[in-house]
Amino acid sequence: MTAEPARSVDDAAAGTGSGAGVPRHVAIIMDGNGRWAQRRGLPRIAGHRKGIEAARSVVKAAGALGIEVLTLYAFSSENWSRPAAEIADLMDLLRRFIRKELEALAGEGIRIRVIGDYQAFEPDVVELIDGAIARTADNSKATLVVALNYGSQSEITQAMRAIAHDVAQGRADAADITASTIDSRLSTNGLPPLDLLIRTSGECRLSNFLLWQAAYAELYFTDTLWPDFDEQALRDAVGDFARRERRYGGL
Ligand code: IPE
Ligand code: IPE
Ligand code: MG
Repeated sequence: MTAEPARSVDDAAAGTGSGAGVPRHVAIIMDGNGRWAQRRGLPRIAGHRKGIEAARSVVKAAGALGIEVLTLYAFSSENWSRPAAEIADLMDLLRRFIRKELEALAGEGIRIRVIGDYQAFEPDVVELIDGAIARTADNSKATLVVALNYGSQSEITQAMRAIAHDVAQGRADAADITASTIDSRLSTNGLPPLDLLIRTSGECRLSNFLLWQAAYAELYFTDTLWPDFDEQALRDAVGDFARRERRYGGL
């Protein structure tokens, strides 16, 4: 062992103690870009730009920690209520991110998946996203799920509609609908259960993110603003998770 502090996730990875170990699926509400910029007297876009850099390094760090799935909340269905200029800036950053990072991500064996109604974005952005998904579809080292125009209530509503339709058509029996029927209709279908949900910037709410999937996720809130969230911050969060005792209603 190295001389790392006891809080290091390495202890968990080594299987010491009786905690939860390394999470398979981590989701992050990447919040605080605007405040990061504001505190420096910079425009909000500067915070978003820095936030993208943080996202890139956290993807790398997650892979190194052995996290199988990382889900990042990048744009919520409620973020349309921001000024048009900020939305345009965010879309530009998304374009640039895909163009700049896709090949490297693909080379790292990362499969990209998107949840949320990204079809509502500009056609060229949709094309870039579809290209990224297709380019990495055969990768299996780790999965990066990006939530784009995502809203959990809308996701659940669509699932309910699809199930109701099946029942109305006689393809399913209402009495046979279980939690896994609903799971299978959500955009996260097939992903491992959410283990750890992180939110940065000190806000303690879910903001319509993975409401169903977070049923037994461990929650971790940190005051760190997203642009300052780095590899060590992820290790701290994962180390905290590793020491938690998950009971799922049992003893
Ligand atoms: C998160 O940072 C990024 C997005 C929601 C796209 P914010 O832009 O919400 O930053 P704050 O919360 O205003 O500081
Ligand atoms: C949540 O952050 C959405 C993303 C991080 C993409 P917001 O900044 O939009 O959330 P609220 O408005 O503070 O709840
Ligand atoms: Mg915010």
